[in-house]
Parts: sequence; C-alpha cells; structure tokens
Amino acid sequence: MDLKEKIRAIPDFPEKGISYKDITTLLKDKEALKATIDMFTDLSKDLKVDLVVGPEARGFIFGTALAYNLHAGFIPIRKPGKLPHAKLTQDYELEYGKDSLEIHEDSIQPGQRVLIIDDLLATGGTLLSTANLIEQLEGEVVGIMTLIELTELKGRDKLDKYKVESLVSYPY
Ligand code: PRP
Ligand code: MG
Repeated sequence: MDLKEKIRAIPDFPEKGISYKDITTLLKDKEALKATIDMFTDLSKDLKVDLVVGPEARGFIFGTALAYNLHAGFIPIRKPGKLPHAKLTQDYELEYGKDSLEIHEDSIQPGQRVLIIDDLLATGGTLLSTANLIEQLEGEVVGIMTLIELTELKGRDKLDKYKVESLVSYPY
C-alpha cells in the first residue's frame, strides 16, 4: 500500500510556507492503519524489543499498537507537568524557544532494549531528547522509527548513532 496517498498535505498550515502532513486521513482508514502498524512490526520484529517508547501525543498512537504486536511494554514520554511520579526532564530547542519532555525514572531498567516510535521526524529534536532520556536510565536504544521523515530538515543527522527507519519521506 502507498501510505503517502493516505496522508493529507495541508498547504500553509500552521503558517505560510509550511506543508502540514495530516495523518488523521491515514488513521481513519482501517487498511492503511493496519498496513502502517504491520510495517512497523516487520521492521522491528528481530530487534528483541523489551519496551516501546513514544513521545506525547502522536507517538502514543502507533506506540501502543506496536508494543502489543511485539509483546513489549509501552512507556509514554510526556510534555512537562503531566507525569505524577519521580521523573527525568530533558530540555530541547524549538525554532522559537524551548520545550521539554519527561519520563518516569523507574520506567526502564538498565540494559533493557528500547525502541522509539513517533509519527514524524522533522528537525529530530523530539527523538534525540527521547533517546537521551532513555540513555540516562541506561536503556539501550535499539532503533528509532517514524511514519514520516522530512528529509531536508536533516533530523537524521542528529540521530546518526542510531538505526533510523521511516516509512515515507518528503523533502520538507
Ligand atoms: C510533532 C511530531 C513529532 C515532532 C517532530 O510533535 O508529532 O513528535 O513534532 O518534530 P521535530 O523532529 O522537529 O522534533 P508536536 O511536538 O507538535 O506534538 P504532538 O505530537 O503532541 O502533536
Ligand atoms: Mg509529536
């Protein structure tokens, strides 16, 4: 299946010049959703994954379905102030300003094999922060997977020490 056909590009959203990749059209299509999760599963089935980690919010959509297929656990990475228990925080740069992501500090045991999944690799800031949080807990990042990659933003360069797979790519 050509997943790109199922993703809707919205011109000039959220601002002029940006072509927003809307995955809701893929998610509502039962065959496209199944094909997406099946592809992620095929790409990761030999990685001996203990835990799938997904960043809030769109990483949750694919992450739990994949974790179920791999018979792995799922760990949410959350935006600030959402996690109730002891946690680690990682700041990262946005185009304008800063944001941060958080993980429960007891969510990963040293040496566990962790796969990161999200919908989109753009600048790579979200996925690099996620990988940093996992490594601070001594988890082993065995792969990073996204549905979409915006190649001209060169997020992959930030993640060059990891095995990165994306299902569809666009220049920007
Ligand atoms: C979007 C997208 C990725 C991230 C990619 O998330 O879902 O997580 O941006 O961008 P980057 O590679 O430049 O870091 P966003 O923070 O908009 O939040 P959401 O998932 O909660 O919608
Ligand atoms: Mg996101």
